[in-house]
Amino acid sequence: MDLSVSYLGLKLKSPVVVGSSSLTASVENLKKIEASGAGAVVLKSIFEEEIYNEYSSILEKEKDAEFPDVRFLDYYDYKIKQDNIKKYFELIKEAKAALTIPVIASINCVSSWEWSFFAKKLEEAGADALEVNLFTLPSDFSKECSSVEEAHLNAIKKIKSAIKIPVSVKLSYHFADLAAFVKRMSENVDGVVLFNRFFHPDFDIDEFKVVPSNVLSHSSDLAISLRWMSIMAGRVSSDLIASTGVHDGASVVKEILAGATAVQTVSALYKNGISSVETMLNDVKAWMEKHGFEKLDDFRGKMSQQNSPNPAEYERVQFMRYFESKKYELD
Ligand SMILES: Cc1cc2nc3c(=O)[nH]c(=O)nc-3n(C[C@H](O)[C@H](O)[C@H](O)COP(=O)(O)O)c2cc1C
Repeated sequence: MDLSVSYLGLKLKSPVVVGSSSLTASVENLKKIEASGAGAVVLKSIFEEEIYNEYSSILEKEKDAEFPDVRFLDYYDYKIKQDNIKKYFELIKEAKAALTIPVIASINCVSSWEWSFFAKKLEEAGADALEVNLFTLPSDFSKECSSVEEAHLNAIKKIKSAIKIPVSVKLSYHFADLAAFVKRMSENVDGVVLFNRFFHPDFDIDEFKVVPSNVLSHSSDLAISLRWMSIMAGRVSSDLIASTGVHDGASVVKEILAGATAVQTVSALYKNGISSVETMLNDVKAWMEKHGFEKLDDFRGKMSQQNSPNPAEYERVQFMRYFESKKYELD
């Protein structure tokens, strides 16, 4: 059975890529990830300084806490300093020396000014590809969505023109014209990752404090990526990679049926260990055997909107008739 895929033009032995997180920040973990069967790894992102500044006061408090929430810190602890940049180059070099699977560097990009220079350095350090984690919260009352989109596209174009290795972009779904924007983005990159998951604030209602909400995803979070994967598949000019809520073999199968080139997974590994990649792949193989598929192309996109006899199913958003068919007993 053949689980190999072409991902941003790189040949991967399996469609499960371990996404950017602290799990991919040490060579020790990376070796375990390779041994579990992952097709590639996306290294922990290096973040723009603005993000650090924005959260520095929270960070200081968390650092002093007796039991700091390390997963929360993990999002923001990569301050761009010479030291960290050097460490990041070393991580790429060591990962390349230790692994046979592709090593994808990752940058968190808010503005474009220094990233094309930096992207070149990452390429020189030996990264096989670059994933750009591109998002600013659309909370600026004075900004039209078109200007935010143009800024994102310009940042990507600059990075893409500065380097030769493949570039993917990991997007949020907070765009008013999501389908059109993903399509435009796909014309400028080798792959689009649908979607990133972000830190969200929650409230402690006794302490009247803002606290982190769930950092890890749930398997039900797959629904958003699955819908958009199905809608976009076959209609864009780049690879499409699913992310958020991929927790088991069934979710890998669903995303490939929707048309994904491959998937990324993170939370499942935090919850169930690095070996969950192997479990996912075994479950994909068992499913393929049951249905008589030899390779991923045999069923990729079989359930995309484009290939559906009922495309409207993918665009249904209201629960209207759902409750007509169910009887709910209310107390
Ligand atoms: C603890 C943690 C750290 C993360 N760090 C990064 C990061 O540095 N860069 C990035 O692009 N995404 C980061 N992410 C987001 C993941 O790469 C991924 O897009 C997101 O968790 C959704 O996938 P999942 O549902 O499989 O967890 C992080 C996620 C978690 C849970």
